[in-house]
Amino acid sequence: MGQSRHLIGRSLLEWIGELAQFRTYKNMSDAIAFFMEVHQDLPREGPGSFASTQKAFSMLSGLPQTPRILDIGCGPGQQTLDLLRLTRGTIVAIDNHLPYINKLIMRSQAEGFAERIDARCQDMFDLDLGREGFDLIWAEGAIYILGFERGLSEWKRWLNHPGYMAVTELTWLTSKPSPEIQNFWQANYPAMQTIEENLQTIKRAGYETIGYFCLPESDWWDDYYTPLESRVHLLQEKYAAQPEALEILRSEQQEIDLYRKYSHEYGYVFYVVFPKA
Ligand SMILES: C[S@@+](CC[C@H](N)C(=O)[O-])C[C@H]1O[C@@H](n2cnc3c(N)ncnc32)[C@H](O)[C@@H]1O
Repeated sequence: MGQSRHLIGRSLLEWIGELAQFRTYKNMSDAIAFFMEVHQDLPREGPGSFASTQKAFSMLSGLPQTPRILDIGCGPGQQTLDLLRLTRGTIVAIDNHLPYINKLIMRSQAEGFAERIDARCQDMFDLDLGREGFDLIWAEGAIYILGFERGLSEWKRWLNHPGYMAVTELTWLTSKPSPEIQNFWQANYPAMQTIEENLQTIKRAGYETIGYFCLPESDWWDDYYTPLESRVHLLQEKYAAQPEALEILRSEQQEIDLYRKYSHEYGYVFYVVFPKA
């Protein structure tokens, strides 16, 4: 989804490119350093929770005892670690931002999961995963980067038979959004669809839906927007004299404020599916 400019799930390089190109940062390394300062050590890089990961995982009744799992766009890896807690299987976790991969490796070592995880810095547009398939593909807040339909279609080739996929996708919860929020998402994620439309897309891509559910609002706040908003406030003080930093912080705050106002109109929805025979 090349045109996305919103923070949730936005590609890091795209975000940085936007900074370097359109804002007043003079060079990429300053922009990257500022991005890291805003985002470093946040527990997640998008909405989610152990309870939601567990709920989606519990819909998979046909998994082997030790499933082989692929977690795409794993970020700092909270859901990867949660999956390791929920299963005795192994996980290949990929993300194209090396600091997240390093963070996940450190966290998995600290929690005693090092043997069951293989974290790789890789681009989802150019996956190189060898010949062994996966019993489950997982992607929280990341399939939009390829596009919902394209991700479903392309990732199928990495699935074993039987195999499953569980993904979250930013979704309209109403067919008539308020103009302010419609304009915001039209500018930032025009491909966003309703649940009904996504279920049709799933069918068109050759899958059956096992189940779906909307992530609760607490999944947006507890591990994502609340820590991010505190960070934004701190940095607004620190960079009060730097307009380029303040502009970035303002756009992060705007996204948070809009969710506060319109959380009943859009959300993240977990879709749990398997390819039709
Ligand atoms: C919204 S974050 C979700 C991270 C994590 N799943 C979570 O829920 O906390 C999206 C992730 O996709 C990664 N990403 C963006 N573009 C990517 C690409 N082309 N290939 C692999 N990962 C990518 C970002 O670095 C980021 O970690």
